[in-house]
Amino acid sequence: MIKQFYILFLVVLLSACGENEPYEDAPMADDPLEETLEVDVALNLEIPDYFPDLTYDLSQNPPTQNGFVLGKKLFYDGRLASDGVVSCGFCHIQAFAFTHHTHITSHGVNGAIGKRNAQPLHNLAFMEEFTWDGAAGHLDAQPIIPITAEVEMNNSFNNIVTTLSQDPEYVEMFAAAFENGQIDPDNILKALSQFMLMMVSADSKYDRFLRNDGTTLTTDETAGLGLFEAKCSSCHSGVLQTDQTYRNNGLSIDPEFNDVGRFRVTGQPSDSLKFKVPSLRNIEATFPYMHDGRIPDLEAVLDHYSDGIVDSPTLDPLLRNADGSLGIPLTEAEKAQIIAFLKTLTDDNFIFDERFAEF
Ligand code: HEC
Ligand code: HEC
Repeated sequence: MIKQFYILFLVVLLSACGENEPYEDAPMADDPLEETLEVDVALNLEIPDYFPDLTYDLSQNPPTQNGFVLGKKLFYDGRLASDGVVSCGFCHIQAFAFTHHTHITSHGVNGAIGKRNAQPLHNLAFMEEFTWDGAAGHLDAQPIIPITAEVEMNNSFNNIVTTLSQDPEYVEMFAAAFENGQIDPDNILKALSQFMLMMVSADSKYDRFLRNDGTTLTTDETAGLGLFEAKCSSCHSGVLQTDQTYRNNGLSIDPEFNDVGRFRVTGQPSDSLKFKVPSLRNIEATFPYMHDGRIPDLEAVLDHYSDGIVDSPTLDPLLRNADGSLGIPLTEAEKAQIIAFLKTLTDDNFIFDERFAEF
C-alpha cells in the first residue's frame, strides 16, 4: 500500500515538472519501477480526461510493477533474437520516441534490412490495430511479428523459452510477475505489453495547453494549430492525430520494396498503397518519415502534401481538389506555422522518462 502511494506521489510530482525540468530531476535513486517487489503492486496509467477511450482491456492483463520490470528487461534483452543482439530496444530507441535512426528502414539480425521504418511506441493503449498496415489486431500479438521475422529477430518462442528458463533471474521474475509463474509465450507477451502500455505520452506543450495550466502557444503555433485543424485533421484527427484508418496519402510506390500496405492484410485491391494514418505525437523526434522512411524532415513532408502528391486509383479523395489539382495548397509561411505546431507535440518528459530507459 505504501509503495502504491509512493508511485502515485511520484506521478503527481513528475506531472508537476515544468518544461525545463525533465524527468531526471525526480528522486530516481528510489524509482519504484526499477526492481521486483516481494509483494507486487498494481500500476495506474495516468491518462488525461481529454484522451480517447482505452482500446486495451486492462482487466485481461493489469500492469503491475513486477510485470513492468520484467517487460522492460525483455524489451532490452538481445537474447530474444537469434543473434543475441537485436533487442526490441535496438530498433525502438527511447531518445527518438522509440524509433530507429541509423537506418531508414529497420535493421535486424545479421544486418538484414526490413522494408519498413520502425514506428514510435507511445499511447499504444489507445490503438485498435498495430503496424503500418494493421497486421496485428492486438498489442499482445504484435511482438510475435518481430520475434519471428527473419529480417528482424529471426527467433522462435521455443528457443526463447529455453533460453529464459535457464536464467535464474528470469525464473524469479516470472514467478514474481504472474500467478502461474510460468515462462511461456503468453506471459512473455503479457509482460512486454505491460511495459508498453505504461508508455503514455501526455505531457507535451500541446497537452499543457489543452489542460489549461497557463501554458500559451506562440502566434506561429496558434496559427499552425488552426491550419492543421483545417487541412490535416480530417485524417490526423483528435488529440492523438489519427482516426486509425488506412489511407493512401499520395506517396509513389517504391520500386525496391513494392510495399502495397493494407492490401497485404485484407487482399482487397481497393486497399492497395494504403497505410495507417499515424499519430503525430513526438513527430519532431521520429524522423525519417512515412512507412519506409523516405522523407527526411518535416519541411519535406509539408512539400509532399503541397506539391508531391502522386496520383493512383486509391489516392485518398481528400487529396483531390475540385479543380482537378492534387494535394493541399500551402504557402511557405503556412508550412512553417504547421511545423511550429507539430513541434508542440514533443514530450520531453516521456522521451527522457527513466522508467522506460535501458540503463
Ligand atoms: C529489426 C527492428 C525491430 C525490432 C527488433 C523490433 N521492432 Fe517493433 N517495429 C519495427 C518496425 C519496422 C515496425 C513497423 C512494422 C510494420 O509496419 O510492418 C515495428 C512496429 C512495432 C509496433 C507497432 C506500433 C504501432 O503503433 O502500431 C510495436 C508495438 C512494436 N513494434 C513493438 C516491438 C517489440 C515489443 C519488439 C521486441 C519483441 C520489437 N518491436 C522489435 C522494427 C522492429
Ligand atoms: C488523406 C489523409 C491525410 C491527410 C489529409 C494528411 N495526412 Fe499525413 N499521413 C497520412 C497517412 C496515411 C500517412 C502515412 C503514409 C505512409 O507512411 O505511407 C501520413 C503521414 C504523415 C506524416 C509522417 C508520420 C510518420 O510517423 O512518419 C506526417 C508528419 C504527416 N502525415 C503530417 C501531415 C500534415 C502536416 C498534414 C496536413 C498538411 C497531413 N499529414 C495531412 C494521411 C493524411
